[in-house]
Amino acid sequence: MKNIMVTGGAGFIGSAFVRRMINKHPDWTVVVFDKMTYAGNLDNLLPVAQAPNYRFVQGDIADREAVRGTFEQYGIDTVVNFAAETHVDRSILSPDSFIFSNTVGVYVLLDSAHKHGVERFVHVSTDEVYGDIEGDHFSVEDDPFKPNSPYSASKAGGDLMVRSYFVTYGLNAVVTRGSNTYGPYQYPEKLMPFFITEALDDRPLPVYGDGMQVRDWLHVDDHAGGVEAALLHGKPGEAYNIAGENLQHNIDVIRLMLKHLQKPESLMKFVPDREGHDRRYAMNCDKLKALGWTREHNDFDAAVASTVKWYLSNDNWWRKIKTGEYLEYYKRQYAARLAAAQSTS
Ligand code: DAU
Repeated sequence: MKNIMVTGGAGFIGSAFVRRMINKHPDWTVVVFDKMTYAGNLDNLLPVAQAPNYRFVQGDIADREAVRGTFEQYGIDTVVNFAAETHVDRSILSPDSFIFSNTVGVYVLLDSAHKHGVERFVHVSTDEVYGDIEGDHFSVEDDPFKPNSPYSASKAGGDLMVRSYFVTYGLNAVVTRGSNTYGPYQYPEKLMPFFITEALDDRPLPVYGDGMQVRDWLHVDDHAGGVEAALLHGKPGEAYNIAGENLQHNIDVIRLMLKHLQKPESLMKFVPDREGHDRRYAMNCDKLKALGWTREHNDFDAAVASTVKWYLSNDNWWRKIKTGEYLEYYKRQYAARLAAAQSTS
């Protein structure tokens, strides 16, 4: 019997993992531990909220007492850490919370897990730790880290801290590094849900730079399946890339969304680029495939169509979010950029 604590379980990828675990492993108790920052949302867990093996605790991974109390109360033997500040643009505007959650928080969680005798620890990291990938290279797990934003540097710090707890203290830990993830329940600040929900209201879509940046798009359920494979079969001390093997230029992803939304391309506005913007991410994921992991969503056109459909049918979910703090963030991030786009057109 496993008592698994899923930190950041009310976020986008964490909640997809929780929904999957609750249904696939009814004999496990799944304890969601989430700080409920702006991106945590209990609506993401409504489909499993009545399940007998679901529990929820509000808490911060950087709060040693809250973590210890939850470990003891639920006899936690397994930790899967999704808790993180995740948005690159926000990390450029204000890095503090990224360092506290993604580096210091991971340290506190690891140290508490080690002291409590946790049997298995999975840490969810990102392809951004490898930095900008030039030429036609595909990152492998042993490649050097070259993070370029406060976000990716803070994730690299957490990722390396996991390694140190394996090497120094023998903590049974694995790391996953996922690529750009999309699908239902994604906070509408990230490219796909942001542009879909803006386009639905016929608002301008701020394309950074020339829109020719390359990202590797992975469906959230395939990402959750990759974390599950690493949890069940990953070798202690190892890292596993979770890739979509689906490299796309941003501009093509945006055109595809607009096609499925039946909205005009004139909504796109080319705006000043993100500072330090990585041009290309690309990863090799053979190591994870060797554990038996496969993806279910390999038809990108169909997966984008169904993602668009989800946001269309769930506008009550995202309209609630696009108020208050969200609008303040929107103004800080986009007002000057969109004004600059207009003045050059
Ligand atoms: O690669 C994995 C990473 O993917 C995760 O570790 C991050 O948590 C996640 O946020 C994501 O990072 P990106 O910066 O790649 O995702 P984002 O959705 O912010 O942007 C995707 C691309 O679209 C990127 O090249 C920037 C561009 N973009 C994004 C926004 C929000 C625009 O052109 N305009 C925008 O308004």
